[in-house]
Amino acid sequence: MHVLVIGGAGYIGSHVVKNLLKNNFQVSVFDNLSTGKKINFFDKADYIIGDILNKEELDAAMARNVDAVILLAAKKAVGESMETPELYAQNNICGTVNVLNSMCKHNVKKLVFSSSAAVYGSPVYLPVDEKHPLNPISFYGFTKYDMEKYFEWYDQLKGIKFVSLRYFNAVGYDENGDVRGLEDNPQNLLPIVMEAANGTRSGLKIFGNDYDTRDGTCIRDYIHVSDLATAHTKALSYLNTSSESQILNLGTATGITVLEMIKKTEELTGKKISYEFAPRRAGDPAVITASAQKARDILGWKATHSDLNNIILSTWNVYKE
Ligand code: UD1
Repeated sequence: MHVLVIGGAGYIGSHVVKNLLKNNFQVSVFDNLSTGKKINFFDKADYIIGDILNKEELDAAMARNVDAVILLAAKKAVGESMETPELYAQNNICGTVNVLNSMCKHNVKKLVFSSSAAVYGSPVYLPVDEKHPLNPISFYGFTKYDMEKYFEWYDQLKGIKFVSLRYFNAVGYDENGDVRGLEDNPQNLLPIVMEAANGTRSGLKIFGNDYDTRDGTCIRDYIHVSDLATAHTKALSYLNTSSESQILNLGTATGITVLEMIKKTEELTGKKISYEFAPRRAGDPAVITASAQKARDILGWKATHSDLNNIILSTWNVYKE
């Protein structure tokens, strides 16, 4: 099976590519290298430098006898999406529509999509399952919500079958050190904590310590990228044998606070991490954790790399250099 991995040179995408190659898929990667990195390239994959906002480049990639698409390319910072929604509308919404239309043109009928816990907004019950109401409170979350609606229509009207994977908080690095690209100017918690630990930055701000949680800081469900990667491979296998589209949470149902993440990183790395409390960040729910029972039932997937020690140590392994 020939898979076009769009955004396959990025942080999550390169872990997905590694897992696909290990499972003997033929892999072509399409990436504009805006956040993707050549250091994340694998010898056994083909790389096409191109942008989902450029329809000609996309069509040329899709014309290479592609059987399925994995779409990861997107902008992904909650805070930034509230300040510059136009970037998110353009990249996430227009870019994804281009991908869908190119799939239609080239008769590609299978899609695995990077969705997000951000589609749920502030949970009304925990852990959140896929039946939970969708009420995104960030523009980033809205773009993912919106795309899922497009997929449902393209499924009905054009027969594109999809698995939308709602990642909770993606963290960690390949345990064998096969993915080493660091994100530039990261916006997510763990890489920022790592940069504070290795001295790249002097410290970090904790956005809000007055939430109704055990230590006042937000609780998130952190899931290792190698576990996310496995789910993509299983989703492709699923689409080969089933004609029903699916939307699936990927998480652990375990919640960790921002302060717990910092303290555990200090303990495991032996580094002191400076932080200060700052106002709440717009678009942040206090707590969100996932039920991934549906992914277990449908894909036979379960997180096996997402223990907190492993998350922190595999990330530090890359950041300590
Ligand atoms: C959100 C999505 C997640 C998505 C990710 C993509 C939700 C619930 N989750 O994660 O599905 O994959 O965006 O980026 O919407 N924090 C600080 N200081 C910092 C950075 C972060 O205190 O410098 C805090 C945040 O306020 C938050 C937690 O750390 O409470 C995690 O933040 P972050 O890593 O940005 O991810 P989410 O926004 O939770």
